[in-house]
Amino acid sequence: MEAAFWHQKWAQGETAFHEGEANAMLVKHFHALELAAGARVFLPLCGKTEDIPWLRQQGCRVVGIELSELAVEELFAGLEQRFGLTPTVEVISDFRRYAAEGVEVWVGDVFQLSREILGPVDAIYDRAALVALPDSLRSRYTAQLKALGQDAPQLLVTLEYAQSEMNGPPFSIDQKEIEHHYRDHYQVSLLQQKVVDGRLKGKVDALESAWLLQA
Ligand SMILES: C[S@@+](CC[C@H](N)C(=O)[O-])C[C@H]1O[C@@H](n2cnc3c(N)ncnc32)[C@H](O)[C@@H]1O
Repeated sequence: MEAAFWHQKWAQGETAFHEGEANAMLVKHFHALELAAGARVFLPLCGKTEDIPWLRQQGCRVVGIELSELAVEELFAGLEQRFGLTPTVEVISDFRRYAAEGVEVWVGDVFQLSREILGPVDAIYDRAALVALPDSLRSRYTAQLKALGQDAPQLLVTLEYAQSEMNGPPFSIDQKEIEHHYRDHYQVSLLQQKVVDGRLKGKVDALESAWLLQA
């Protein structure tokens, strides 16, 4: 997917991937990450997800990266309204960094991010990020996450369905593909698998899965 594809989605408000509340699998399996209070959790391709305030409320420091500044503005407008969080915005390298107490989001391309800029993280949470990327970008993306996260554990939420029945995003990712990308770095464990209510986009039967990736 080109950047223009996502900018257009945000500009037109076509954000059906956005859940109105924290992801149920995050809420159920967050504890599996075994994080201490104040842990820094990285959310690649974060959008304006409700997972950010939820993780913050669990005592985490949340750091995200998102291509669309519109999404980040919408995120912080909500955080300001509900929690009184007003961000400071600064330009660092190729990014604009929005930061408030317990939450920072870098506006820019995840592939341009470096460990030096991001800083150390204690965990990665990927929901609707790996599945948002076409096959041609996934090896580069997963290599980037391994470089950015080092030995930090990852909670990964994926979707699986008959790809022949619908085009992505979201794309179908099965266990074989997860193992292909991550088994050199992580031990991959399936935590939960459930049928997507009402079918994916109302069109195809699909499974949502939560995976724990441990170095
Ligand atoms: C399917 S949405 C998921 C957003 C969020 N994770 C959620 O659960 O609601 C994918 C997001 O990735 C962003 N994105 C796509 N490519 C990106 C890239 N190369 N770097 C940073 N963000 C990107 C898009 O703008 C979009 O907001």
